[in-house]
Amino acid sequence: MIKLPQEYLDNMKELLKDDFKDYLNVFNDDYTHSLRINTSKISVRDFLKINPFNLTKIPWSDDGFYYDKNDEVSKHPYYYAGLYYIQEASAMLPGLALPIEENDLVLDACAAPGGKSLKLANKLNNTGLLISNDISVSRSQITLKTLETCGIKNAYITAQDINDLNNLDNSFDKILIDAPCSGEAMFRKDPSLIKSWLDKGPDYYQVIQNSIIKKAISLLKPGGMLLYSTCSFSIKENEEVIEYALSLDDKLKVLPINQYDNFMPGITKNTKNCVRLYPHKIKGEGHFVALLQYGEHINTNKINNTIVDKPDIPFFKDIDMSFSNGKFIQRDNRLYFEPNHDLNLKGLRTLRSGLLLGEYKNEKFEPSHSLACALKYNQYKNILNFSLDDNRVIKYLKCETLDVKDKYVDGIVLVCVNKYPLGFGIVNKGILKNKFPSNNRYK
Ligand SMILES: C[S@@+](CC[C@H](N)C(=O)[O-])C[C@H]1O[C@@H](n2cnc3c(N)ncnc32)[C@H](O)[C@@H]1O
Repeated sequence: MIKLPQEYLDNMKELLKDDFKDYLNVFNDDYTHSLRINTSKISVRDFLKINPFNLTKIPWSDDGFYYDKNDEVSKHPYYYAGLYYIQEASAMLPGLALPIEENDLVLDACAAPGGKSLKLANKLNNTGLLISNDISVSRSQITLKTLETCGIKNAYITAQDINDLNNLDNSFDKILIDAPCSGEAMFRKDPSLIKSWLDKGPDYYQVIQNSIIKKAISLLKPGGMLLYSTCSFSIKENEEVIEYALSLDDKLKVLPINQYDNFMPGITKNTKNCVRLYPHKIKGEGHFVALLQYGEHINTNKINNTIVDKPDIPFFKDIDMSFSNGKFIQRDNRLYFEPNHDLNLKGLRTLRSGLLLGEYKNEKFEPSHSLACALKYNQYKNILNFSLDDNRVIKYLKCETLDVKDKYVDGIVLVCVNKYPLGFGIVNKGILKNKFPSNNRYK
């Protein structure tokens, strides 16, 4: 049994009253295991047709499933193809509860490692713009890998303190703040967080959370919506932060969130419409979720979805992917397709702006791994498809050179498993030079 700090136990007893015993009992069980289908790559229906795992639906999620803990979901080629993302079940609620519409300008303010950003991107359906920001550069690199593998084309990945997002006041239709927090709900899954709770508890985080939500309100357009979430149970990090936000501006109001069995309300007077998820009430580790709206919506011009001609590069003759709502931009020797927007993003530490298509090496265009991930099977002419049981799939994911003489392909090929793209390779005389990125390599 995990040893929980006495102060924490006292707080929880006070909070949960008669339910406290049930809460303690969850520590006798394993934590929950779950994944979410990446609907930018495959519909839930199509995934269920090829599903290799023991999945059961998560009641509040349209695309989330529990899997059996013996399912090796992170070792399956479909994971490397970005068909799903491993995410804790209650952590699926924030992205789901923020009502994203196509063409919205969306900021995920504390985005790394990118799990919730992926859901926002799925809902945008490659329209509008998603800025996935996080204060940490190294954690933002993981967001980059997440969104790249999952084939997201319309995201900027930035690494800034939200308080330094100057020039962006009144800019966003929707903002997600999945705030840094003391992580109380993760104690069962990751007991090492207990030590950091002792060092930096709810009081420490409340100061940061207040400053983040205050800044985020100023970044919202009139009528814009903000979703605030934490994986803490503490009233200090949840209801008190929402009450603080409400005290800043009377244009701010709390909106209701769709209810499911055993969702519990917020605790203070103005937070009854918020949702508390507890591990003894639902199958998940726990979360707090609040949806706020700032003032009334004013009709503003949304981004226009016009189709753009492909770049005049021989490689693109073999690509049958339509490019819309953006422009091709070359920076140094790299070519990007950047989403249209009228935001002033100058000066932001930007790890990725839109879709990196490839780079020029010795005057020759080499397509990028992000382009491979963004392509569908029928969108590239030169396909090298393996069945799931072909042992070359894992060899490819381990970055090995392959013998593909039986496949009769040549040149730059899109390597696929069961018709789902994994990455590029170059075939010469039946030997595949592997272009799968070594830092994504199969382990
Ligand atoms: C709970 S995690 C976010 C998890 C992420 N939303 C996901 O679903 O994968 C909180 C994040 O907030 C970031 N953070 C902390 N202070 C910040 C600030 N002032 N501005 C932006 N990000 C911040 C941390 O680096 C951390 O990655």
